[in-house]
Amino acid sequence: MSSSFDPGQFAALRKGVVGIDREVPLLDGTMVPYVNLDNAATTPPLREVVETVERFLPHYSSVHRGSGFKSRLSTVVYDQAHDIIGRFVRADLDTNTVIFGKNTTEAINKLSYRLNLSPDAVVLTTQLEHHSNDLPWRDRANVVHVKSTPDGRLDEADFDRLLARYSPHVALVTVTAASNVSGFVQPIHRLARKAHQAGARILVDAAQLVAHRELDMRSDDDPEHLDSVAMSGHKMYAPFGTGALVGPQEVFLSSGPEYSGGGTVDVVTLDEVQWTGLPDREEPGSPNIIGAIAMAAAAKSLMDLGMENVRTHEDELIAHTLLRFQSIPGIQVYGESNPNRSGEKVGVVPFNVAGLSHFLVAAILGYEHGIGVRNGRFCAHPYVVHLLDLPKWEQEAWQRHAVDGDETSLPGMVRASLGCYNNEDDIDRLAEALQMIARGEYSGDYVAHQPGGDLIPTAYEEPFADFFLLEPYEPALEVGHGACGN
Ligand code: ALA
Repeated sequence: MSSSFDPGQFAALRKGVVGIDREVPLLDGTMVPYVNLDNAATTPPLREVVETVERFLPHYSSVHRGSGFKSRLSTVVYDQAHDIIGRFVRADLDTNTVIFGKNTTEAINKLSYRLNLSPDAVVLTTQLEHHSNDLPWRDRANVVHVKSTPDGRLDEADFDRLLARYSPHVALVTVTAASNVSGFVQPIHRLARKAHQAGARILVDAAQLVAHRELDMRSDDDPEHLDSVAMSGHKMYAPFGTGALVGPQEVFLSSGPEYSGGGTVDVVTLDEVQWTGLPDREEPGSPNIIGAIAMAAAAKSLMDLGMENVRTHEDELIAHTLLRFQSIPGIQVYGESNPNRSGEKVGVVPFNVAGLSHFLVAAILGYEHGIGVRNGRFCAHPYVVHLLDLPKWEQEAWQRHAVDGDETSLPGMVRASLGCYNNEDDIDRLAEALQMIARGEYSGDYVAHQPGGDLIPTAYEEPFADFFLLEPYEPALEVGHGACGN
C-alpha cells in the first residue's frame, strides 16, 4: 500500500536495485561504484521483480493451451499480469484491453496497423516526439507536427490551430506524455478533451512517464479519457523484453490481427478463420510470459511505493541537479533549467559543455568517472535539432556527412536521466565530474569510433572478461552505435 512521503523509503529502495553497488573500471585502472544516469534509455531491474521471476520460474509453462498444473497456473498468472497493468494505468478493462508486446515502439506500430486509417486521415503529432511515435504514422496517414516553442515546450496554440485546420480529418492525436529529451510533461488530459471535441482519438506514448508519475486513463465517458497508452517494461525496472498497449477493445475486434498464427484463433478450416477473443488474438505465438510477469511485478512495486511519493522524490532530485548545474561554468541546459520549475518535467536533463563535443563529455564521464549517460539525438532528431537552434546550413552539412557515413560531426547533447533510486550523491558525482571537465581536466586521448562517432580512449583494452562475457571478446572497431529504441 502506498503511504505518505518518507525519504527513508527511497534509501531502502536503492538497496533493492540489482547492481546498485557494482563497481566499474576507470581508464586509470581504479574502480568506482557505477552511477547510472541513463534511466530514460533503460532502467535496472528491481530485486523484487527478479525475485518474483525466480519464484515463478519453477512453475513456468505454456499459457492458454496446456492441460497440466503448471500450464493452468501460468495461464492464471499471465492473465493477472494483464489485469495489474490495466490497474496501473487505471484502464476500465470491461471496455479496454491490455496487449503485451516487446516495447513501446512495437505497441505504437501495432496501433498504427489496427486503427484502419483512411487515406485522407490526419494524425496530429508533435515536434517533441521520439521517432517511435512519429515514423509508424508516416506510412499510414498524413502526419502533421505541432511545433515546439523555442524553449522546447509544446506550442499549444499551434496544437489548437492545427486541430481546427485539419478537423474533421484528424483521426488521431498522438503525443508523448513526457519527452525523452527535455523531460517536459504534456497536458495529456487537456489535449484529450480537445482531441475528442474534434472527433479524434488520442494515443499517449507513456514510455517516459509511467515510472515517474501516475498515469490515469480515466473512465471511457470522461471527456479527458485517454483512448490508448503505450509503455515499456524496461523503462520501469523490468527489463525482461515486454511492453504494453492498452486501448479500446472495439478497435482490435473490428478486424483481424496484423500478425496471425498460433494462439490468435478459435477455429481454422482450410478456407476460414475465426479469431479468438482479446487479448490473445493480438499476442500471436507463445508470449513472453516472464516479461509480462516482471512488468506486472514492477507495476505493483511502483504502486506500493506510491507514484506521488516517487514524484516528490524525483522533483527534489531534478531541482538539485539544476541547482548544481548552475555553478558549472559553460554548461548549457536545454529546456527548463530553473530549479524552481522542476515540477514541469520528469528527470531528464539535456545539456552541453561549451567548447566540448557531446561525444567527448559523455566519453569522459563514462571512462574517467564511472557515470553512465547518453549522448546524441536520442531518437528524436527534429526536436534535438530544434533545441540546439542550429542554422539551416549546419543541419544540411551534418545530414550530408551522415549520408556519407561520417557521424563524428553530428550535433547532439548529453543527457542525464534519473530513476527513483538515484540520490543526491549520484548528482553530486555528476556535477563534480562536469566541473573538472569544464576546467579541461581529463586524461584520456580519445578517438572517434567510426561510423557511430562515439569516442573511445586510445591504447585501452576493455576488461570485460573480468566482469561478464558469454565467450571471448574481440573488439570490432568498425561497428557503430547509432541504434536506439523505446
Ligand atoms: N528511447 C530511449 C532513449 O531515449 C532509448 O534513450
